[in-house]
Amino acid sequence: MLLAAATAGMEQRDVVRGGYEEIATAYDEYRETETPPALDDGIGADCFASLADGSRVLDAGCGAGRPVLERLDRAHESVGLDIATSQLELAREHVPAADLVRGDLARLPFADDAFDALCSFYAIIHVPKEEHERVLSEFHRVLRPGGDLLVSMGAIEGWEGRNDDWLDTGTAMEWSYFGPAKSREIVETAGFEIVDERLPEVESDGFSVFWGRA
Ligand SMILES: C[S@@+](CC[C@H](N)C(=O)[O-])C[C@H]1O[C@@H](n2cnc3c(N)ncnc32)[C@H](O)[C@@H]1O
Repeated sequence: MLLAAATAGMEQRDVVRGGYEEIATAYDEYRETETPPALDDGIGADCFASLADGSRVLDAGCGAGRPVLERLDRAHESVGLDIATSQLELAREHVPAADLVRGDLARLPFADDAFDALCSFYAIIHVPKEEHERVLSEFHRVLRPGGDLLVSMGAIEGWEGRNDDWLDTGTAMEWSYFGPAKSREIVETAGFEIVDERLPEVESDGFSVFWGRA
């Protein structure tokens, strides 16, 4: 049973990493046309505005680095982490001053208390569900006490998705969601106090956003 779960997790991780390696440019173009919810207004703006200039901030699952890492880099000492090398290569072009590290959300290659703040947009949803607790626990470990967390998580209970032609690229992608209540519970169980949250009006809207404090 445990072996089956681990194998399923490994398969999803391989599909996700391989997919993002393949479609880095297509995703970057797609992302350019999207305004990231919660970044320019509401919870995201409030969270980012609360950070002291020069804070050390990790963007976990940074993709090609825009718009989020690019935005953070204007005021902070920013670090981007991603599992896909081709995403990091694009991030190097877009955000040349940021530190960029290849790694996994579930096994962060950073010391305890290494960051003042951590954000992660649309990345936890690609990690197998049984590892979401571990990811949030890693986020808590690398944040200093009192550090800020801003994460988007799933909002459709128990949704496991696969698209074999994501963004019309012919490339497969997979997702794993919990609903908003379980996602909030995972954030709190990892040790965060919820400062604010944005939940979708209808579950099918897809994402919940949590601002937490370590
Ligand atoms: C939908 S993109 C989001 C990128 C960026 N955060 C944004 O807002 O546009 C998801 C990113 O998470 C990365 N990712 C997926 N699973 C990961 C994992 N287990 N560890 C690290 N990065 C991961 C992917 O390679 C991809 O760049």
